[in-house]
Amino acid sequence: MANHEAAICKGILLAGGSGSRMFPLTHAVSKQLLPVYDKPLVYYPLSVLMLAGIRQVLIICAPEYQQAFRRLLGSGEHLGMQFHYAVQPRPEGIAQALLIAREKFLGPGEGVGLMLGDNLLYGHGLQRLLAQAVRRKQGATIFCYPVKDPERYGVVYFDSSGRPVQIVEKPSRPRSRYAVAGLYFYDEQAVRVAAQLSPSARGELEITDVNRWYLERGQLHVEMLGRGYAWMDTGTHEAMLQAANFVAAIEQRQGLKIGCVEEVAFRKGFISAQQLLSLARQIPNPYGRYLEQVVEEETGLRGQAA
Ligand code: G1P
Repeated sequence: MANHEAAICKGILLAGGSGSRMFPLTHAVSKQLLPVYDKPLVYYPLSVLMLAGIRQVLIICAPEYQQAFRRLLGSGEHLGMQFHYAVQPRPEGIAQALLIAREKFLGPGEGVGLMLGDNLLYGHGLQRLLAQAVRRKQGATIFCYPVKDPERYGVVYFDSSGRPVQIVEKPSRPRSRYAVAGLYFYDEQAVRVAAQLSPSARGELEITDVNRWYLERGQLHVEMLGRGYAWMDTGTHEAMLQAANFVAAIEQRQGLKIGCVEEVAFRKGFISAQQLLSLARQIPNPYGRYLEQVVEEETGLRGQAA
């Protein structure tokens, strides 16, 4: 899909938070920079925004980690992307990301895709759902996923015909198993909605309140991610390990990587085969060799000058 057909061309990657649930791991390193098997956690959500065809991304992180994110991701040019950076001084909610983006990143009338920097989303068919979401000119799109512990998340309730009727943040007694994944696509109204929110009991501007605003107006599109998809939020030590094991199992079995932003940049046509080869040569290990193999399989260019 050519990007000019998309209503939403910009993305936000929210990688803030104090990471206190992961102490002492996150005393000196941002949670979103921790490894998930063979790459930093933030690669996984970034690759999802890229798969959606989004090439301009605002990366929001805690002030103390901005240098580290810049060091890892730079200007984005090497991936055919444009990265912008902003800080969230305190973890005051996901919806605050929209307000931070409004300041220097989002123009009037622009929609945006927002992904949490600690979410991993993977599955065949995801690209098609993402393409639909970015093409939608009006309303919001969220993604639901059945989980065993919905009380930890935003939860959507449906009526008997499957229409979403209610959305609740961390219900103590959830009436549905459908959690809201940390990926949201909004039209230009979201920024205004976020600006009108008051902090919740936990002191945060809740993204669930933004989603409820759309729901109440019949403008919330809910995509179901059922069997065959993996959504992991890496919120605990166990969840981090599960995510790493999942990625390792798939990658070792198929010989295909998950969340490999260099590969995605190439396959989406953001960078050329020569550019991918030169990235590959800066990574002198199996990861770099994998990138070379991607080029080789696609073009037979392996071994030629970068
Ligand atoms: C946040 C959202 C929640 C969503 C979850 C996804 O929860 O508030 O609605 O289901 O992300 O990861 P939090 O990480 O703030 O607990």
